Amino acid sequence: MRALVREHQIEVSHLVQPMFVVENARDAGPIRSMPGVHRYTVESAVQEVGVLDALDVRAVLLFGIPDTKDAVASSNYDPNGVVQRAARAIKEAFGHVIVIADLCNCEYTSHGHCGIVDERGEVDNDATVEILVRTALTYARSGVDVIAPSDMMDGRVRAIREALDSEGFEHVAIMAYSAKYASAFYGPFREAADSTPQFGDRRSYQMDPPNAREALREISLDIDEGADIIMVKPGMPYLDIVRAARDSFDVPIAVYNVSGEYSMLKAAAQNGWIDEDRAVDELLTGFVRAGADVIITYFAKDYAARHAPH
Ligand code: PBG
Repeated sequence: MRALVREHQIEVSHLVQPMFVVENARDAGPIRSMPGVHRYTVESAVQEVGVLDALDVRAVLLFGIPDTKDAVASSNYDPNGVVQRAARAIKEAFGHVIVIADLCNCEYTSHGHCGIVDERGEVDNDATVEILVRTALTYARSGVDVIAPSDMMDGRVRAIREALDSEGFEHVAIMAYSAKYASAFYGPFREAADSTPQFGDRRSYQMDPPNAREALREISLDIDEGADIIMVKPGMPYLDIVRAARDSFDVPIAVYNVSGEYSMLKAAAQNGWIDEDRAVDELLTGFVRAGADVIITYFAKDYAARHAPH
């Protein structure tokens, strides 16, 4: 009876598995702060996508960990960079799997900021947008289906959209990290992606947690600039933003269940303080109920494995 009248359902087809791909094999292996999550080489990433595909998880979000970093993130727009090579290899082996590439500079800059830093130590918005556009084109040429800018610079969605269109990539979609808050919950990710800022913080370009109306304004700007999917991030503390976005806009909404949300649940489960499977089901249900279409979660594979048809 409960199944008959249930209002919301988690669909495996709406889950996205984030994946960390390393350029240097020496950096591959388990991530200490995220039990159960690994860094893959390009080759092992392709194998893992095969495992996900068999479980019907058909969308991955790639993060690259380059071998070299510099002040201007040049390893990011290298046509043979790690994300570019991973995307080509995955699309070649599993053409039907949707490859989403996170587009940001923080993993590629020596200072760990998401943008280019000027002589005053401030992030230069427009110089950063140029680098993002350049990188986005190399991603598109490598077969990436969806570009996901997570840097939070102003005007980047329009700049990327125009560049993609002018190079014949009208079919490449943009999933904008529109409402991305300056959050403590990214802690484990920064270890995973080696992207902790070496000075300062990200508060000049990420959003202030108390602000909700500002999130709707950011989302509406990104939609005007050409975003196909908009995102709210993190997930659990921002479900009100997901709901408000759902009620205000007609575009698909993604929610990012970030590293800290993953790791705290894992840690509690490992201590026997919480029933992991039930907690994960409840967590993902909360995202669906709040109105998310796309759920980006490190639990995607586990969830799909537990709910696979026998
Ligand atoms: C890059 C980026 C971050 C995350 C996704 N893209 C880190 C940050 O902004 O500091 C966080 C993802 C997670 O915590 O799982 N800017």
